[in-house]
Amino acid sequence: MPATCVIGLQWGDEAKGKIVDLLTEQHDVVVRYQGGSNAGHTVVTAGQTYKLSLIPSGIFRPHVQCVVATGVVVNPASLLDEIDGLTKRGVAVGKNLSVSDRAHVIFPWHIEEDRLLDRCADGEAIGTTMRGIGPCYRDKVGRSFAVRLGDMYRHDFRDRVDSIVAAKNRLLAGMDEQPGREPLNAAKIYAQYNGYAERLKPYVADTTAYLLDAVEAGRKLLFEGAQGSLLDVDHGTFPFVTSSNSSGVGVSAGSGVPGRYITKVIGIVKAYTTRVGGGPFPTEQDNAIGQHIRDVGNEYGTVTRRPRRCGWFDAVAARYTARLGGVDVLAVMLLDVLSELPELNICVAYELDGRRIDRFPSHVDDLRRVKPVYEAMPGWQQKITGVRQRADLPPKARAYLDRLSSLLGRPIEIVSVGPDREQTILA
Ligand code: GDP
Ligand code: IMO
Ligand code: MG
Repeated sequence: MPATCVIGLQWGDEAKGKIVDLLTEQHDVVVRYQGGSNAGHTVVTAGQTYKLSLIPSGIFRPHVQCVVATGVVVNPASLLDEIDGLTKRGVAVGKNLSVSDRAHVIFPWHIEEDRLLDRCADGEAIGTTMRGIGPCYRDKVGRSFAVRLGDMYRHDFRDRVDSIVAAKNRLLAGMDEQPGREPLNAAKIYAQYNGYAERLKPYVADTTAYLLDAVEAGRKLLFEGAQGSLLDVDHGTFPFVTSSNSSGVGVSAGSGVPGRYITKVIGIVKAYTTRVGGGPFPTEQDNAIGQHIRDVGNEYGTVTRRPRRCGWFDAVAARYTARLGGVDVLAVMLLDVLSELPELNICVAYELDGRRIDRFPSHVDDLRRVKPVYEAMPGWQQKITGVRQRADLPPKARAYLDRLSSLLGRPIEIVSVGPDREQTILA
């Protein structure tokens, strides 16, 4: 009855998609359990690059059931686009995909609210992906204006859209600093979403019941985290976070599968650190080194194409999230991106108000003030994209990996040296 989780230990884009695709071969069911189309997961196989937002990265193996579970917020238009895009490219999407009838639905008002409210209490921008994720989760928790996928098939769906649209029009008019906005049109939105509901019908299911049956029957589950643990709404760099539990703690809440079935947690890290959007980032290199990493690693957002902020590996942050996630083993990704740099830095501690600390601060104001304490390591300065055995890596690259492993207190099970499925070093 093993269930494996893949979670990002940084601020997202750790290459979770690649690892999930790789591990899918050994699993029966792949499950997304939080987030929505703010996620952009890349799978590269046989020279083809696929970008996935809602559909689990297991979709390329036909024997595997892909589940979009209850904790995900679903924009039906994005989901249908993704299904169509994959189908056009010859990837079968049919009975192998199911979507929870309990998952909450993203509507146009959520996207408008995201645009109007992309800021924290002091007015600083969060820099969201503008996909309506936060507003939809807010309505889920608030209950009054929430619609779940299963609600779209009920007799009162039309009435519900009417009453929510009336309330949202009042709220949006109050929020908008530029008056004269076009009000939301309930009839139009209903017609549109009714159309989506018809097309999505074959996929909508009670995924909680399905997953409980599957796990009790001993089928192998693989949970695919979206975002990264430092973006977790409870444990991340609040308020510069996403609106779900994107660390390991979200798996059970979002899927309905009890934590006791989880037998292995794989923490994914980049060999350096990136972040998209606002918020503190102690090891950021807003300089030629950061630009070099961005160029070599093609560090531009999968969803929004925004340039990602780049910096050195932050072992204080990653150790915190590895512990938080109960991580058993690590996968270190994009090691090849560092190959040309003569010297690498690893942040091994922070200095706060003149004192050395190794604890990750709970408040962003403290995180903003910390100074990273770096340990320098020599770069290996040779190409490694063709390496397939750990022993064939340059000794300096192995030393770098060993240091990450010892700082995080976990073994490294997977090393990635390029985007392709094949460019992977196992154990
Ligand atoms: P995810 O959101 O965690 O799935 O990650 P993204 O797909 O947003 O970003 C990871 C990017 O790195 C994608 O463009 C991948 O194709 C690419 N990638 C994955 N592994 C490697 C690697 O080992 N080396 C390089 N150079 N690129 C990689
Ligand atoms: P994957 O799954 C990186 C970031 C946004 C913003 C913050 C809040 O591809 O790793 P949101 O739209 O979620 O309300 O934005 O979270 N963010 C991500 N950053 N990777 C992601 O997903 C992200 N999903 C959201 O940039 O800073
Ligand atoms: Mg991504």
